[in-house]
Amino acid sequence: MIASALLRKWSVVPRLFFLLCLVSGSAAARPPAGTASDPEIENKISSLLARMTLAEKLGQLQQLDGTWDGDVRPEQMELARQGLLGSAICVRGAKRTTELQRVAMTESKMKIPILFSFDVIHGYRTIFPVPLGEAASWDPSVVERADCIAAAEASAAGVRWTFAPMVDIARDPRWGRIVEGSGEDQFLGAAMAAAAVRGFQGTNYSRPDKMVACAKHWVAYGAAEGGRDYNTTEVSERTLREIYFPPFKAAVDAGVGTVMSAFNDLDGIPCTANSFILTDVLRREWHFHGLVISDWNAVKELIAQGVAANGEAAAARAMTAGVDVEMVSQFYHEYGEQLVSEGKIPMATIDRSVRRVLRVKYRLGLFEHPYADEGLEKATLLSPANLAAARELAARTFVLLKNDHETLPISRQLKSIAVIGPLADDAQSMIGPWSGDGRKEDAVTLLAGIHAELPTAKIIHARGCDVTGDSRAGFELAINAARESDFTILAVGESADMSGEAASRSSLDLPGQQLELIQAIHATGKPYVVVLMNGRPLSIGWVATNSPAILETWFAGTQGGYAIADTLFGDVNPGGKLPVTFPRSVGQVPVYYNHKNTGRPPGGDSKDASRYIDIPWTPLYPFGYGLSYTQFRLSHLELSATHIHRDGTIIIGVDVENTGDRAGDEVVQLYLHDLVASVTRPVKALKGFERVSLRPGESRHVEFTLGPGDLGIYNQAMQFAVEPGTFKVMVGTSSEAGLESSFEVGP
Ligand code: BGC
Repeated sequence: MIASALLRKWSVVPRLFFLLCLVSGSAAARPPAGTASDPEIENKISSLLARMTLAEKLGQLQQLDGTWDGDVRPEQMELARQGLLGSAICVRGAKRTTELQRVAMTESKMKIPILFSFDVIHGYRTIFPVPLGEAASWDPSVVERADCIAAAEASAAGVRWTFAPMVDIARDPRWGRIVEGSGEDQFLGAAMAAAAVRGFQGTNYSRPDKMVACAKHWVAYGAAEGGRDYNTTEVSERTLREIYFPPFKAAVDAGVGTVMSAFNDLDGIPCTANSFILTDVLRREWHFHGLVISDWNAVKELIAQGVAANGEAAAARAMTAGVDVEMVSQFYHEYGEQLVSEGKIPMATIDRSVRRVLRVKYRLGLFEHPYADEGLEKATLLSPANLAAARELAARTFVLLKNDHETLPISRQLKSIAVIGPLADDAQSMIGPWSGDGRKEDAVTLLAGIHAELPTAKIIHARGCDVTGDSRAGFELAINAARESDFTILAVGESADMSGEAASRSSLDLPGQQLELIQAIHATGKPYVVVLMNGRPLSIGWVATNSPAILETWFAGTQGGYAIADTLFGDVNPGGKLPVTFPRSVGQVPVYYNHKNTGRPPGGDSKDASRYIDIPWTPLYPFGYGLSYTQFRLSHLELSATHIHRDGTIIIGVDVENTGDRAGDEVVQLYLHDLVASVTRPVKALKGFERVSLRPGESRHVEFTLGPGDLGIYNQAMQFAVEPGTFKVMVGTSSEAGLESSFEVGP
């Protein structure tokens, strides 16, 4: 309780910190990160290039890994001494980065600083909710604030390059990496991508507490066949442009400094060797000036993918397609000189890539300030302000899936509570996959959060069963705990290692004996809530039908236990919404809200419709869905015009009112359907959203402005154009919602 009171007191601090982030970030004078550089930097780079040997240039294009624990490996030390290590991955901490950096800065001929990189995905040491959870906030400022703090912590530890945001659209929850992105929708994904870039980089990543971001994995990695990680992808150009490109475009427009090519092959060409995406789209169409890095060992994997016979050919293909830096494998290093001398790779190609690397280093200020400061690191990591922000932001990501008879919030008057389930006291799972330098010892479990919330109540903890496995040996204790208590909190789902990289599943059911555990607790007839912790949508049909209350908490981060307790007991009213559809069964996958209409749409009684004979075609929970402890009403949908010109704009307004008796948040969502077009269109597509906080009885007028960028489509000639016709407008509180109107677009 003391800890929780202190944290409440400090909750204003992160706001101040966030303001500081924004205000001082905007004062920077350098050009935005993704654009061409200033002449002073370019001149310095030219003079360096003129003095570098080809081997030293190739060294700048090499990224080599330290140990997973963050230590420097001897090979890195030696390459740094020779001036052949451009960047390092995994080496972290002020002491260790400084140790390696000092060798590069004092012993190498050119004295070019090493750029330290790491996967700072949802926090560095203070861990925030996993990105899928952050997207469930439907509040880009959650992502921006979390990544702002992540950047400050990582940079204090010497790490100035993050391999985030992961902006892959994922329509297949079997794919474990769905947890790392913003879900299934490109509009929501684009908003979160831009917010992440702003958070990590600010307006300019030159500030010492900022880092350069990396939009990954370019592109369509999320479309891996069968949801099996690293698998081949087959995506049409139209779907690439409509669905998979937009979050990357948003990141590029926000000035992202780097992009990572994906592992997968796309229409037969591995992304690592794909000049259509790396050069035609990224450089020529989008004018991206930053640097492109391969994924881990991906240049080498071109051999296994069967498009390069050997290391030399693999290096040549990746360089020619537009990969500037090679991560971990060392084919640029080994074959670069040979490729240049044989005339297979022009020196200008090498120089251009080296220039891109050096430009990032100059912009980061690494030449002037190459070393991290241990004192600053100590003061920054896990600071009270960062922890308070983690607690506050985590609670914004929770989605209330069900709450029959106002089961939640739980009364504080209860004398006894059972906290049951394999995840109730699992600190590792609380911080989730890809948890940076996060440590389980720092994490507050749900059980610890409940103890802090109710220090005098009798709290009985019983695991019941493991996340996986067949044993029901713990059931009896769990059932007795539930019987003896006034209320049961049941924490189930997936362990952290069941999603993330190389963690695809063929089933979306609750693993192990967890459903049986829920059923056993249900059979006691006592009130309970199911608290889900998981990195992907789960098919929880029985729970959705039978359990009285379900709170989706994803993997909530270092302060997750406090945040969940805050929400269960009503200090915070949940206002998140699903960023991804929850299927009834894995057999429905892929199932997503913005599907096309068929010639035989489902619905009605027709057998010859696009549906299943054994289950409904509709999802368990739709995209955009989520409840609150209060109720909201939308009304007065108004359009500023009934007709607009194809170049024109239209304003769509709606009133939202809190009709219940608690303060709460609602996410107003705007969807559009272009009824008749030259190519088939989705039945609805998200075009606007806003999360609003309302006191009981309070109303707000929300407006969205749509223009050609929102109305246009890729036509038969693959040109982006607005086609005349009728557009249906749908506004509601989920993708299944509500108020409807329409307008005409004239020629
Ligand atoms: C992942 C990337 C990650 C890289 C470095 C790869 O296996 O696909 O997302 O950034 O490793 O850790």
